[in-house]
Amino acid sequence: MSGGETFPSENIILIGFMGSGKSSIARDLSTALGYPVVDTDSLVVEQAGKPIPAIFEENGEEEFRDRETAVLTELEQSGPTHRIVATGGGIVERPANRNILKKMGFVVWLVVSPEEILRRTAKNRERPLLNTDDPEETIRRLLERRVDFYRDTAHQEIETDDLTFPEITTGIVESARYFFSG
Ligand code: S3P
Repeated sequence: MSGGETFPSENIILIGFMGSGKSSIARDLSTALGYPVVDTDSLVVEQAGKPIPAIFEENGEEEFRDRETAVLTELEQSGPTHRIVATGGGIVERPANRNILKKMGFVVWLVVSPEEILRRTAKNRERPLLNTDDPEETIRRLLERRVDFYRDTAHQEIETDDLTFPEITTGIVESARYFFSG
């Protein structure tokens, strides 16, 4: 897409499992399109005043999910703007969130294999749900539960294992242009 060209409306929203590259791709899309990045995890951390592992440990997953829904609702109510929205991997668990996401703009699911997720998340201790005795089993179980939610929410799916970040970004920009022109 040439610089300065803008879509008539809305946002590009990235969904996908932990380690699927949402934050990195969001930054690349921001550079390509000049839209600001909004990250639901960062907004939750900002509003809670503590990091995600502390929210899970001190308040539990349900409170994290409540906060996630609250920031998503605020984003939706702030109206149609041109933003890249990166989301937490579990945001699709709640039906209300899935409905909001679909209304907010072009939703892209970054699909990634369990093997690749394990590789990318192995050294990071910032994801409380993967701090288990058997992270691989946890990843497979969560993926199995969520896969239909991602599919149901997304306007586009991209298999990312064999693509570079620039290839993924270019694909999303092209598809978003088509989506918003329709
Ligand atoms: C979660 C994913 C995390 C974060 C939290 C819960 C999940 O975000 O929201 O740890 O339930 O999959 P990332 O997908 O950005 O790691």
